[in-house]
Amino acid sequence: MAMALSSRAQELAKPDPKFFFWEIIQKPWHPQDKPDGYVCLGLAENVLMHYILAEHIQRNISLVSNDFTYGDGKNHLRSTLARFLNRHFRPIVPVDAAHITPTNGCSSAIEHAAWAFGNPGDSFLLGRPFYGTFVPDVTLRMGTKLAQVEFGPETDPIGPGCVSKYEEKILEVQANGGRVAGLILAHPHNPLGRCYPRAVLIELMKLCQKHHIHFISDEIYALSTFANTVDSVEVYPFESALSIHTAGVIDPSLVHVIWGMSKDFGANGIRLGAFVSQHNAELHRALLPVSLYSSTSAITDCAAANMLNDDEWVDKYIEENRSALQSNFEHVAKWAKGHGFEYAPGVNAAFFLWLNLGAAYRESHPELEENGGVDIDQLVMDALLGEKVFLASGTQFGSESPGWFRIVFSQKRDYLDEGLQRIVAAIQKRD
Ligand SMILES: Cc1ncc(COP(=O)(O)O)c(C=O)c1O
Repeated sequence: MAMALSSRAQELAKPDPKFFFWEIIQKPWHPQDKPDGYVCLGLAENVLMHYILAEHIQRNISLVSNDFTYGDGKNHLRSTLARFLNRHFRPIVPVDAAHITPTNGCSSAIEHAAWAFGNPGDSFLLGRPFYGTFVPDVTLRMGTKLAQVEFGPETDPIGPGCVSKYEEKILEVQANGGRVAGLILAHPHNPLGRCYPRAVLIELMKLCQKHHIHFISDEIYALSTFANTVDSVEVYPFESALSIHTAGVIDPSLVHVIWGMSKDFGANGIRLGAFVSQHNAELHRALLPVSLYSSTSAITDCAAANMLNDDEWVDKYIEENRSALQSNFEHVAKWAKGHGFEYAPGVNAAFFLWLNLGAAYRESHPELEENGGVDIDQLVMDALLGEKVFLASGTQFGSESPGWFRIVFSQKRDYLDEGLQRIVAAIQKRD
């Protein structure tokens, strides 16, 4: 008789009709080779600079004997990351190698945070909408939970009014006998593509201090910022949580920042992350045995060090990446305006347009108004998949209102345009 899986593995082994994503990325569209393939604008990847990345790695990679071993305990990588963060994040206290636990991507770093700060059953606050994979990061293996925070239609999820909503949720969890272990932010925000104003970060830190919970800022899009020349709303520059004076604000051992190369260097596949905590040596000691399971490879370390220590190349890369993102943002925002699609304005970071395709779909299908109770998210998703275009849906991203989808615009223009055309076709097509 075959050995049964553990109950937790059995749970995940059940077929899940909502988990069609792997199928989509296995059948990518190509204008000649696979015209009936999927256009995927649902995955947060930035391909705009890949040729520059590939050129640097191929020109500089050189492995020595030490790279085929467990190496030096990642000391060299820690120093590289510290130096890089000091150049780009304006930390109040210079980042030291000892402040960093490197990981194979930010996903592992977030899971480590859930493991290190939460006992099973403890909750982490997460404002809506959110980056959907925070859910498995916190809940899949660690036994920790999320306490999702609603803001309602009047409160900007990243504006000053968000703070009291987070506090209400802390009190609610506590009133139900639970414990809140931390607050997780994506800063810049995924999917809204905006940076938290400095004043809001400070107020959220004060809230964390008041309730003695960890403040975890996932800054994976820190350097993917650009000017918004399209929307007439106030935007805020990116300012790292590391750049905030903690005196009188928060116990610095509660402040943690996560960064990695997946987004700012368009390299989801490189698998490099950094869990930065400057005043919590105990945390790094605890993570040392755990990090065997989230270690980067020496090949990654070598490629990353070559890049991150090449200051001139990095500075040029960041600048070119910013202008490429700005140009694609302007393109997709104009497309949305041209078709009358409502979107969340003020994007000046990351690579997302968060838009209300549900409203547009209803407009081109007026008969829907009559039968209330339709699942507009599902209707739009089915229509999009019918046209072989995939977007992340607000249902996976904790959207408070139905019909919202996230377009990733950091794809090459022909690919992006093919996707945008398919979206229009999906929304406007009549049965
Ligand atoms: C906010 C945020 N954090 C973490 C990740 C995952 O990063 P990594 O590829 O480093 O695991 C993503 C990827 O989309 C993200 O958007």
